[in-house]
Formats: sequence, structure tokens, C-alpha cells
Amino acid sequence: MNQTLKTRLTRTLVLCVIALAAGALIGWLQIQAGPAAVVKPGQTTITGAAIGGPFSLTDQDGKTVTEKNYAEQWKLIYFGFTSCPTICPTALQKIAKVMNALGDAGADIQPLFITTDPARDTPAVMKQYVEQFHPRLVGLTGTQEQIEAAEKNYRVYAQKVQTPEMAEYTMDHSSFIYLMNPQGELTALYRTEDTAEAIAAEIRNNLSP
Ligand code: NI
Repeated sequence: MNQTLKTRLTRTLVLCVIALAAGALIGWLQIQAGPAAVVKPGQTTITGAAIGGPFSLTDQDGKTVTEKNYAEQWKLIYFGFTSCPTICPTALQKIAKVMNALGDAGADIQPLFITTDPARDTPAVMKQYVEQFHPRLVGLTGTQEQIEAAEKNYRVYAQKVQTPEMAEYTMDHSSFIYLMNPQGELTALYRTEDTAEAIAAEIRNNLSP
């Protein structure tokens, strides 16, 4: 590749990383969760902000789903987008690792990946993407309004970012893994630095108190 293109790509990459870091920081500040960010089962608010609630979305097979489809299950929920360079793939790999570590105990847990980029993440795109991570991972998309409603309920920060150097927009977004209990209440909130092993251990404790 020529030097100009190389410089432009490097600049784009640097901007992406800065944008993602800023997004994560802003999301973090918005939620203002403390270290480890683990709340007690049944506690639905963090610093006064209710987290969770109803949603109506479309899964990777084009089927309409709501929170009622997963009412009997624990849920591991992550918001992101399929063209995310590193943050989302890392989080989804972690979720896959947690599911594998749980083995049979994981049968009671539904991992959900909800897109913040419904314009590009159609059910077909989501299907191809989630399959790369775990066979049980469900990808959810919807209309812009449906996605915004879900983001609002889960206090997700997500914002399109585009500079003249970029051929395609990227997205700034907060990056948390939510553990919701079968009642739909927030049980724990995991950050980038929480390991799959630690998350799996805590889920085991929650499943068999
Ligand atoms: Ni991402």
C-alpha cells in the first residue's frame, strides 16, 4: 500500500481507538458504578439509575422477541456493533468463554448481543456475526426507535462517529456486560477488566446460592 493510504489508515485507526476510549469513559461516568460494580440480587438501580426493562427486538432469524421470551432465564447482555474493531469482539469472546466455563450450568443462561447500529446490523449480518462467537449467542436488532428504547433502559451510551478520513462511520459506545436474573433485575455489571473466570465463578454462586 502507498504511503498516503497508510498514513490515512493509521490516522483512522488512532481516531477509532480514541473515540472508543472516550465512549467507554463517558459510559462509565454515566453509570458511575464503583469497582467490581456488583450489585445485590434484586437491586435494580445503580446510583439511582434503574437498569433493565422491557424491549421488543428482532433476533438473527428475523423473529420478534421481547424480554418475555427470556423471562425464565438468567441473561448475559452486551450492547455493541458488528463492525467494532476490537472492543465488541473482545467482550463477546469473553461471554463465550464464560458460557464454556459454565458448561451444563450455562443452560439456564441466555447470552444476548444487542446492536447499537441497527442501520448496518440487519438480522442477516447479526446471524453471521454471532455464529463466530458461540452457538447459544443470540443477536438482537430492530428499528432505530426500538434500539434507542433498549439503550435507554440499560443506560447505554452509543453515538455515531465519522471524520472526513473515515470511509464508514464507527460508533462510540459504553461497554458493560449485564447479568440479569430471571425476574429481569440487574444482578451484576461487568467491566472490560473483569475476567471470564471471575464472571463464571460469580454466576455459579448466583445459580446455586
Ligand atoms: Ni464495540
